[in-house]
Amino acid sequence: MVPAFALQWRRATFFSEMSAPFPALFPSYKPFPMTIVRGEGDRVFDADGRAWVDLYGGHCVCSTGHCHPAVVQAIAKQASELLFYSAAGEIDIRARAAEGLIAFAGAPMASVFFCNSGAEANENALKIAHQLTGRPQFAAFRGGWHGRSTLALSVTDDPKITDPHSALLAPCTVLEPNDPASLSADFSQVAAVILEPIQSMSGVHSFHPEFLRQLVAKAHAAGALVIFDEIQTGIGRLGASFAFQKWGIQPDMVTSAKGLASGVPMGATLMTEAVASELSPGALGSTFGGGPLACAALLATLQVMSEEGLPQKAIEAEALLRRELRCAVRGEGLLLGLEVGPRSAEIADQLFDLGYLVGKSSEPGVLRLMPPLNVQPQHLGEFAKDLNSLL
Ligand SMILES: Cc1ncc(COP(=O)(O)O)c(C=O)c1O
Repeated sequence: MVPAFALQWRRATFFSEMSAPFPALFPSYKPFPMTIVRGEGDRVFDADGRAWVDLYGGHCVCSTGHCHPAVVQAIAKQASELLFYSAAGEIDIRARAAEGLIAFAGAPMASVFFCNSGAEANENALKIAHQLTGRPQFAAFRGGWHGRSTLALSVTDDPKITDPHSALLAPCTVLEPNDPASLSADFSQVAAVILEPIQSMSGVHSFHPEFLRQLVAKAHAAGALVIFDEIQTGIGRLGASFAFQKWGIQPDMVTSAKGLASGVPMGATLMTEAVASELSPGALGSTFGGGPLACAALLATLQVMSEEGLPQKAIEAEALLRRELRCAVRGEGLLLGLEVGPRSAEIADQLFDLGYLVGKSSEPGVLRLMPPLNVQPQHLGEFAKDLNSLL
């Protein structure tokens, strides 16, 4: 039991470090030092009209840019027709959203369960794996980040947020990414192996597709399922619908959230036919999951992706940045890590002053870019010039 005074002290430190401008609001992240009042395309604005190019994308969320007119229009239309009804009411747009997402993802994904966040999408995938295999253990990778709900936390490698809850967490074997020794792990008691095809939070580290192909084969041979957490790598960001398609790998489940509905909260657990057919109706549920507003935003997002060729734009943007930037660049498409060195925090602050929002990572020395997929090439060119001048 932590004494009350200790809690108060910790909280005070937390608040003062964060210099929280709104004491009533619990400070969960250290905010950028401005108040955002408006977003348009790849930029956000404060009340004085000052603009920042958003290379952080609201944490990899704004896939189609801020307030894309087609998404805004779809949301407004849906809000005026039917703002909400749970899955207890049959709703055409929910069925169309499921069909649209499964078509976008492609085989072998065949069925989707809608929820509201990335953690929930992973929680459901892990729960499904437990139910189908009867096994209470998981395997995950060093540096992986999968969310803050209990099972998602069990497979997350971030002691800062897992340690306070260690007594509640499910057993999880931690494997080393891309290490052949991980392929010899004992998967016979494991319900599922979960991984981000490109680990984002840990500093943008990619799995080798061949390693993943072998991992899937090993896991399947031992009766374990494989879950790809594509909450950051999905929805066009790597230049294909999802990483599993780009790399030609067949997981049993794929989770998605963030860019799925352009900023309207939505999570999704996609499953193969083999997985979905093992679940009885009612095995999964959520009051808000698959609400009409989120479904309208998802359908509009998919339409914009296709009409404006956003996955291809992500590849062109990556090429531009690799060509123009003087620092080493990791990752693929528009999930990129920039190796800027030990002054990374100072450089992020200087970039802010120059009008750019960028992400930090848990690897000191690496800044992350996860902008809207329609970020303007001109803004990327200017950014490269400005960052080069700070290196
Ligand atoms: C790879 C990955 N998985 C899961 C999550 C959790 O998503 P959410 O914050 O929507 O619960 C995140 C969030 O940053 C993430 O980056």
